[in-house]
Parts: sequence; structure tokens; C-alpha cells
Amino acid sequence: MSPNEILEWFNQASIDKAWSFAGCKPSDTGKWTHGYHRYPAKFIPQLVERLMDDYITNGTASVNDPFMGCGTTVVSAISRGFRASGTDINKVAHLVTKAKASPIAPDYLEKKVKQFLSGILPSDDEQDIFDRVWVQPHIPKKHLERIDYWFMEEVRDELGRILTLIYDEDDSAVQSFLVVAFSHVLKTCSIWSQSSTKPTRDLKKRPTLPYDAIKRHLFKMLKGNEQFYGVVPSCVKDKPDSFLNIQVRSAERQPVPDDSVDLIVSSSPYVTSYEYADLHQLSTLWLDLADDLKEYKKKFIGTSYKQYEDKTLSSQIASNIVAEMLSKNKKKAKEIEAFFIDMQGVFKESFRILKPGGRCCYVIGNTKLRGVDILNAEAFAESLQHSGFKLDRLIKREIPLKILPQKRDEKTGRFASKDKADSEAYPTEYIVIGLKE
Ligand SMILES: C[S@@+](CC[C@H](N)C(=O)[O-])C[C@H]1O[C@@H](n2cnc3c(N)ncnc32)[C@H](O)[C@@H]1O
Repeated sequence: MSPNEILEWFNQASIDKAWSFAGCKPSDTGKWTHGYHRYPAKFIPQLVERLMDDYITNGTASVNDPFMGCGTTVVSAISRGFRASGTDINKVAHLVTKAKASPIAPDYLEKKVKQFLSGILPSDDEQDIFDRVWVQPHIPKKHLERIDYWFMEEVRDELGRILTLIYDEDDSAVQSFLVVAFSHVLKTCSIWSQSSTKPTRDLKKRPTLPYDAIKRHLFKMLKGNEQFYGVVPSCVKDKPDSFLNIQVRSAERQPVPDDSVDLIVSSSPYVTSYEYADLHQLSTLWLDLADDLKEYKKKFIGTSYKQYEDKTLSSQIASNIVAEMLSKNKKKAKEIEAFFIDMQGVFKESFRILKPGGRCCYVIGNTKLRGVDILNAEAFAESLQHSGFKLDRLIKREIPLKILPQKRDEKTGRFASKDKADSEAYPTEYIVIGLKE
């Protein structure tokens, strides 16, 4: 299709209500291990499941997600006994996905969690209290200043003691499970404004006590693990490593051979939208995941910290968007250009790893920045075509209100706070499906 035909294809698309999943309750979208950890812009498992229903015809299929985030695609694939592979540059994403995709025998896990909680439990037993006091808090020294920016002293020390006990756990699967619970509760235990995904302090906030927060969350996770354990086929439980292949690395380098994947289901970052490295900084600091936060941020696609001077765009639609932005704001234009250039590399990699007859499904919405329409979906479609894909299908879907990002501030291009938001940034999004013939 020519760029004009692609634009027309999108113009003609009407919303397919069957893909809104409007009847889904939080207990459906957060089933199994999907509720382990909050994650901005994650998609719902039902969407991945339907795409697998539509396109996977063999029981030994291989599914990939180059931007796996908290692992919705990976977990869905594992639940059906498919091989799952993927990448994310965010180390928190990798930790979360690994734990979510690794079912643990429920009785054993419950025993382990209770043992762990008894290690931090305030108890009437004098000896226990004595032992507890002497647990040395594990607080990464090099990040102490930043940690103190976000946590009150008593909370910080209790978190440090909890982390010491987590690192004492010998079973690596149980340790990952505990680490994810720890990572998830950091926000409520900090003075990070509870209603904001962005790093904003709320000096009036009364943080939840770490012990209470982690206990509550661990019990919720135990239930999720039990349900998940019940659906995952035994072949996966017996040999988990031969089914799960995920790495912390760039989406342009998938850990799988050529022509080996049946289906890709993914949602990329948006240009200058969420800065995932900032959003997960509490976990990054406590778990000591990045020595240099600034350098770490530059590796993320869609970040405002990235620009290229030596690479060119192949998509005409993307080039037009960049040209329009150039007349408004040169820096923003360079960021958008870098985003689409990076995505070209990812689509090329998707083409490499898919089997002939395999499909890639990219979930993406359009945005408006500084008054310029950023036609991500149309540009993705054109770029997929340049990578060798045949444009196979376009699904236009409504995004449930509760997971819509807020309106952007026209001046800064950033999401405005909830109270100022008078409309949604992305009321609909697309699933652009490419076929490798
Ligand atoms: C929209 S989120 C994906 C959410 C995912 N679909 C889920 O359900 O959790 C986009 C992800 O892309 C990741 N990302 C950004 N730059 C990347 C890169 N260069 N390579 C791999 N992943 C990257 C971000 O860390 C983020 O997790």
C-alpha cells in the first residue's frame, strides 16, 4: 500500500466493539499473576488471548513480545503451554515478568511466605524481637540520598530489613516472588504521590507501614500464583526454562533464531510519553538496578533523552510528522524522529524472527503533541511494510476509560494532572497486524 492508501485504510476503519472487552472486571484483567505489579500502559490479557485464539493453530507455538513490560503476552503464552520469549530494556520489567511467568507449587510457596513473614513479624516472643532488631537493613549506600528523598527514616529502615531477609532466601524462584512484592509496595510506603504515575512528592502523605503493605500484597500474590499454577500445563512446570526465554536488552535484539516465532503481540512505548526509567525509580534504587540513571534512561525507546544525527527515516508518514513538528519545536521533532527510527529496527527484527505465515500484532494509539497529530499507527503500518510485512488486518478498538492516560499539557506535551484533564489523550487505539508471507 502507498502511504496514501495506508492513511485511507485507517480512515475507513471503524471501531470493533468486540475488541473493547467492556464486560471485563478487574478480577478478569488481574487474574492469575497479572495483578502482581502495577505497570503503566500494560494491556489486558484478554486481548492477547484473543489474538492467540485467532492466529495460533499448533500446540507447540512460540510467542514473542519485544516490549514485554510486565509480561502480559509472556504470561498468556505460558498459560497455554506455548514457548514465550521477549525483551525489555527496563530491568524492573524483567524481574516482574520472570516472577509472573514462573508458577510455584502453592503449598510450598505459602509455607515459604509464612516463614518469611515470621522473620519480620512483630511478635510477643522476646527472642524474636531481639533477632529482628539485629537484622541489618540492606540499603544501597550509593542511592541513599535518593532513597531518603522518597522515604521516611523508619520506613526506610524497615524496608531495608525486609530486603535483607529477601536476599537471605535461597530458593531463587521464591526470592523473585518476594522481590516483586517488595517492588510493588514501594510506592505506597514512600511519599510518592499515590495518585500520580510521575515522580511527584506528597509531603502530607502517610505512607503505609512496609510490613502491613507487603503482607497484604503477598497474600494476594499467593492467590494469583495458585490460580496460575492450576492452568499452566505440567510440561511447562516440569521444565520452565525451556519455555521461558526473556532478556533485559534492546527490542532490536531478540533472543531467538530466524524464522522461529509463530506470533508477536506487543505494545511499544509512545514517543516522549512515560519515562519508564523515572517511573520505576523506587525499585531501581532499592534493588540497585542502575549505576547511572541518566545513561540508563537513554536506552529507552521513545525517551526525550535520545536523538540521532546519522540515521534516516524510511516511512513517508513518519517523515511528514517530523517535518510538521520541526516548524514548532526542533528538539521534539528530533525525539519523534529517533522514536520512529528505533521502531524501524524493531520491526526489522520482528520480521527476522517470525516463521513464514507468522504474524506480528502491534497495539498502538495516536497522540497529539504541540498541536501536531502523531499518527503512530499509520507510521507503524508503513514501517512494517518496509520491513517486509504484508499489511494483513487492522483492528480499531476503544480503550476502557479506567486505563486511559490523562490529557497532555499542551505546553509541555506531558500528561496533565487528573483534575486538569478534561478529555482523554487516546480514546481509541489500533492493533496493526503484519503477515510474513
Ligand atoms: C507499553 S509498555 C509494554 C507493556 C506490556 N505490553 C505489558 O502488558 O506490560 C512498553 C515497554 O517498552 C519498554 N522499552 C522501552 N524501550 C525499550 C527498548 N529499547 N528495548 C526494549 N524495551 C523497551 C519499556 O520499558 C516498557 O516496558
